[in-house]
Amino acid sequence: MLEAIAAEVGTPTFIYDAAAIRGQYARLVNSLQSAPHRIHYSMKANSSHAILSLLRELGAGVDIVSGGELFRALRAGFTGRDIVFSGVGKTRTELKDALEAGILLVNVESEGELRLLNEVAGELGAVAPIALRVNPEVTVDTPHPYTRTGERGLKFGIPYAEAIQVGRLALSLPNILLLGVDMHIGSQVSSLEPYRAGTERLLELHAKLRLEGANDIAYLDIGGGLAVTYNDELATDVEAFAAAILRIVENVPLTLILEPGRFLVGNAGLLLTRVVYRKSSGGRQYIITDAGMNDLLRPSHYNAYHHIESVRPNGQRGVFDVVGPVCESGDFFALGRSMDAAEPDDLLVIRSAGAYGFCMSSTYNSRPRAAEVVVDGDRWAIATEREEYSDLTAREITNLTWMDG
Ligand SMILES: Cc1ncc(COP(=O)(O)O)c(C=O)c1O
Repeated sequence: MLEAIAAEVGTPTFIYDAAAIRGQYARLVNSLQSAPHRIHYSMKANSSHAILSLLRELGAGVDIVSGGELFRALRAGFTGRDIVFSGVGKTRTELKDALEAGILLVNVESEGELRLLNEVAGELGAVAPIALRVNPEVTVDTPHPYTRTGERGLKFGIPYAEAIQVGRLALSLPNILLLGVDMHIGSQVSSLEPYRAGTERLLELHAKLRLEGANDIAYLDIGGGLAVTYNDELATDVEAFAAAILRIVENVPLTLILEPGRFLVGNAGLLLTRVVYRKSSGGRQYIITDAGMNDLLRPSHYNAYHHIESVRPNGQRGVFDVVGPVCESGDFFALGRSMDAAEPDDLLVIRSAGAYGFCMSSTYNSRPRAAEVVVDGDRWAIATEREEYSDLTAREITNLTWMDG
């Protein structure tokens, strides 16, 4: 099928397996069965319409981080009640749009945001439903520092020591309804300990807020971050994770919210690319592909590992740097990798590219963005058409209209 897709759609192309996404979703939901819970797929991981539609049909809600994601979520058929809104820099317009959509929760990350939201809600004659996103300040071990969000001093969430004050303020503001407490500690978190510690801290805060008169709190949002295997990392043991969390929340009358992204889609996707050239330089052997860092940024940005193999291995092996055509030395998918000795025109698959792949892609070097395809059993469909050169310049103005001042 990969060869048929390449022939029809060209390369580079992201390909997602619907069955794999359904499987991950079912595993998570089954493990949480015994407690009231909601899965809000963190759509920043992959916000393509086909993926959103699939997850909506499975019963998921979404976690959004921008007005653009709100737009996409509504377009995919989610209603406001299916949506929670995270992010440190929500603008007035984004908050207004979210309230107008009837959002379930705004996960408020600062006092400034809380005051602005109160104002915006007042202007709309509405009451804003919120959760306090708190930085639980727990030790989180992730493969890359960029994916830690729950440690002291980071930009995310309300510092734990200030959360009670911000909670008091929320209770005093006329257009705010405090409905939840929330954290998101990081991404690729395979250890259960930070979740346990963070959840305990959220429950402590919940107890303190109740003493302050917060009687409407109904949600305990413990974020996303469940880990998958790219190479030899430990994936989160979901059943053990769920058991650990459920033990802590057993007697707590709150609905648990989870915001998994990568866990649902990471290993359900691959990037199909064609070898353009082989070359050697200074003792290094290069495989040069038609996909570049603009298509899949993770190796360059996070030094991330992605397994790479030939669609039709020729039996030869070697040690290669797999690089793209972008004019940057950081444009690589693998360095010094022992792998199939792919030749020009061979197809390669770059695995585990379902999360933070296409959605992080750009048109750098004026490279149109890749196509996306969904496979379901023995059928496949184009989900996103490949961009054309004319898309690159569609919003550019060739005759500038100058303004004075
Ligand atoms: C607030 C929030 N929730 C959930 C996620 C999803 O993380 P992951 O894809 O690791 O599950 C993120 C990712 O950074 C996030 O910022």
